Amino acid sequence: MADNLSGYSLLWECIQEKEEYPIFRITYLSRPAWPFTDTDLDDIESKSVAANNSRDVTGLLIVNGDRILQILEGRESAVRELYTKIEADARHTITKLVSAMEDEERLLLTWSMVVRRVSGIPRDALKEYEKLYDELLNSEEPREITIDHADLLRSISLFSALPS
Ligand SMILES: Cc1cc2nc3c(=O)[nH]c(=O)nc-3n(C[C@H](O)[C@H](O)[C@H](O)COP(=O)(O)O)c2cc1C
Repeated sequence: MADNLSGYSLLWECIQEKEEYPIFRITYLSRPAWPFTDTDLDDIESKSVAANNSRDVTGLLIVNGDRILQILEGRESAVRELYTKIEADARHTITKLVSAMEDEERLLLTWSMVVRRVSGIPRDALKEYEKLYDELLNSEEPREITIDHADLLRSISLFSALPS
């Protein structure tokens, strides 16, 4: 009986966590119009958190010198509408739309917007990240972001969160 109960509650948690609509994910690369300062990044992050939350969009923005990478996930109409605004933002120039695809699940479950400058991360992780960035930049086909990529980006975000 106890086993059945925990089985049911596990099933219930899975049902509750399932999205009500297919997840759409846009990944793009861009170049900043000037070297972003902490104030520039804080400004983008503070405004994006509330705006993305209200659209049920989750996202990640990683800035490594002049290489920007952003992932946005949510309902297709919300993500596309946001991307149109971001594309027109004079603070950067989009160099590549890596992919715009549907997926069964969110990779960035709880982040309405996390903005990270790549700094103070271990050399190996930085090398791995730069390799991924170059692969995405040079790929001719749309490239889907996988769970492995998301893990790498997440760990970079954690390292960058530590005081330098
Ligand atoms: C690199 C970069 C990433 C951005 N990411 C977001 C974001 O995730 N969410 C958001 O609302 N605005 C983001 N913005 C800001 C938008 O470009 C735009 O300024 C914002 O959506 C406000 O538009 P509005 O005043 O027309 O509503 C980003 C800007 C830049 C330069």
